[in-house]
Amino acid sequence: MDEKDLKIPQHVAIIMDGNGRWAKKKHRPRTFGHAKGAKVLEQTLEDADSLGVKYFTVYAFSTENWARPYEEVQIIMNLFRDYLISAVDKCNRNNVRCMVIGERTRLDADIIDAINNLEEKTKNNTGITFIVAINYGSRDEITRGFRQIAQEVKDGKLEPDEISEDMISSHLDTRGIPDPDLLIRTSGEERLSNFLMWQLAYTEFYFTDIPWPDFNKQELIKAFEKYSQRDRRYGNVK
Ligand code: FPP
Repeated sequence: MDEKDLKIPQHVAIIMDGNGRWAKKKHRPRTFGHAKGAKVLEQTLEDADSLGVKYFTVYAFSTENWARPYEEVQIIMNLFRDYLISAVDKCNRNNVRCMVIGERTRLDADIIDAINNLEEKTKNNTGITFIVAINYGSRDEITRGFRQIAQEVKDGKLEPDEISEDMISSHLDTRGIPDPDLLIRTSGEERLSNFLMWQLAYTEFYFTDIPWPDFNKQELIKAFEKYSQRDRRYGNVK
C-alpha cells in the first residue's frame, strides 16, 4: 500500500497471545516465550510510536491468568518487576507516558510501588501513552466502576437519572483515554477474553495467526493496512 494511504489508528490495543505455543514449538519452557514476548513488546511500542500511534494498550495479565501454574505466574510477575523498574528511564528518554490498568490490590506490594512510581515519574511526558493491563478483566473493571457509582448514589451525590454512558466511562480504569480504534490479537484465537469490552464497542478487530513472539513492525503495518482499507462509512462510526 502507498504510504500516503496508510491510516494510522490513534489508539491500538493488543492481545499478545501465543507465547506458550511459540516456546513449545521450540521445545523450550513457556516462560521462554514470555521473556521473548516482553522484548517484542518493547520493540512494538517503539514501532507504534514511530508510526504515529498516540495510545498503545496491551493485555499483559488477565484476572483469569492467576489460574496458571504458580511457577509461570511468578516468572511473569518477575518480568513485570524488571520491566516496571527499567521502564522509568526508558520511558523518560522516549517521552512515553506509562499507565497501568487493572485491579492492583492483589499484586505484591513492591509491584504496586513500582507501578505508582512509573506512573508518577512519566505522567508529564507528552509522547505516546503506553497502557499496560495487569490483573485486568473487563467484568471486574465494570463491577468496580458500578460499585463506585452505587456508593455515590447512596451518599446522595448522584441521582440515578444522571448516570450516562460518559459517566460510566469515567468510572473505568481507562478514564480520560480515548477508546481503541484498532484491536490486534495474535496467534489465531478470535475472542475478546474479557479485554476492554466496554471500550471496544466500535473498534475494528484484526486477527493474525502469527504468535506474539514473532510479531514485528512489518506485521504491525499489515494490520494498519487492513485497518486503512476498512470502510468507515459512517464518519466517526458509532
Ligand atoms: C499470552 O501467551 C501471554 C501472556 C498471558 C503474558 C503476556 C506477558 C508478556 C508478553 C510479558 C511481558 C509484559 C510486560 C509488560 C513486560 P500465552 O501464554 O497465553 O500463550 P499460549 O496461548 O500459546 O499458551
